[in-house]
Amino acid sequence: METTSGHPAFRVFRFSLLNPTSFTSFTWIPDGALVVNSEGSIAYSGCWADLPREYHAVPVEEYENCVALPGFIDLHVHLPQFHARGKFGKDLLSWLHHVIFPIEATFADPGVARRVARSFFASLAAHGTTTAMVLASVHEEATEIAFEEARRSRLRVILGKINMDMDCPENLRESTTESLAATERLIKNWHGATDKLRYAVTPRYALSCSEDLLRGCADLAGRYGTYIQTHINENLEEIKKVRERFHTSYAELYHRTGLLGKSTVLAHNVHPEEAEIDLLKRTDTAVAHCPDANLFLGSGKFNIEKHLDRGIRFGLGTDVGAGTSLSMLRTMRAMAYVQGRSLHPAGPLYTATRGGAVALGLEKTIGSLNPGACADFVVLDFATMEGDLRGLSADDAAAAIVYKADPHAVLKVYAGGEHVYSRDDQRRAGDQRIIDE
Ligand code: GUN
Ligand code: FE
Repeated sequence: METTSGHPAFRVFRFSLLNPTSFTSFTWIPDGALVVNSEGSIAYSGCWADLPREYHAVPVEEYENCVALPGFIDLHVHLPQFHARGKFGKDLLSWLHHVIFPIEATFADPGVARRVARSFFASLAAHGTTTAMVLASVHEEATEIAFEEARRSRLRVILGKINMDMDCPENLRESTTESLAATERLIKNWHGATDKLRYAVTPRYALSCSEDLLRGCADLAGRYGTYIQTHINENLEEIKKVRERFHTSYAELYHRTGLLGKSTVLAHNVHPEEAEIDLLKRTDTAVAHCPDANLFLGSGKFNIEKHLDRGIRFGLGTDVGAGTSLSMLRTMRAMAYVQGRSLHPAGPLYTATRGGAVALGLEKTIGSLNPGACADFVVLDFATMEGDLRGLSADDAAAAIVYKADPHAVLKVYAGGEHVYSRDDQRRAGDQRIIDE
């Protein structure tokens, strides 16, 4: 079966399927089939034994002892901090000023911006991440380059340059006007430039922005229909300074400047007041939970129940470089560990996939293996975690992924049905660096 363009009309895969459906549930099909059409969408997913007759003649790509999951969605990650992972900083503010700002300043050099962006997106794919919401540096040219590399990677990327007009080193500080003008040019060039690229207006956090800049950012996002991403309630010292400067809570500041809403994703929210939770609920604002970063900087423990009970949409972010790894496998485990108790694996698996899709308003397109969704999926090699998959219960298979899988479990990654990473090709080429270079 071929289309007129010469592409096969359908591709058929055989492996186990794990499809997260809620924070407490997933479907598990030990002997599953996935059919991808020529548009890169899922045409069938279900039991191998029930594969519709029309696909029986298609050659099968078989993955023995492997599980397919929806591609991971990293809901909060800093591209220019890729090489800043694991560098010691006492707490958020000291780490930002002494470790992060000097590294981000190197993105004034387009050569650095190109090199890091290329390895960053290659590494995202190598970790099974097929969608990411990404913060760039403050530099317009480096952000242009980041978008070019995002397009080249074939991943789905929501990206924005950081806006900062105060409380940062001279070489990173922008005037309010120039910050907004550069942002508008980038939006015009890149928001919706391809099916997979979107702009996110990115005021860094309250302390690096004047109130005028926050309002200007909200205005641009509203006029162009972009996403908004920023940080909230990460660290107690930070929160105290926000209150001193703006005489209100973090969420109320974002609300009065127009930044909250259904296309906004706020990272962390580790220390919210009740009234702030109410505000996020009322405005339908989403949250990116970044457990590895919260452990690394000692910021605190995210209250999962509070967000679940109020129906606040949240997904999972690595928050590299406060997060130490681009691996969503490791980040799922950190999500359990930061709670100080074991979590049923359904929760982290959902948060890393469908939860992120819901937070982005893209649940019809990504975050599941449902028919009609984009064929973004990751194939995990069970030999690296549990030995033999046969006979495992659904819960044991899911728990092995959350609690035992390491980055080398990622065998193949597909984005829109296109193959974007193969562990074995990488090994054959003798290139081990791509995962954690
Ligand atoms: N708050 C403001 N900027 C940052 C950042 O780069 N990383 C983290 N973790 N928090 C922030
Ligand atoms: Fe962050």
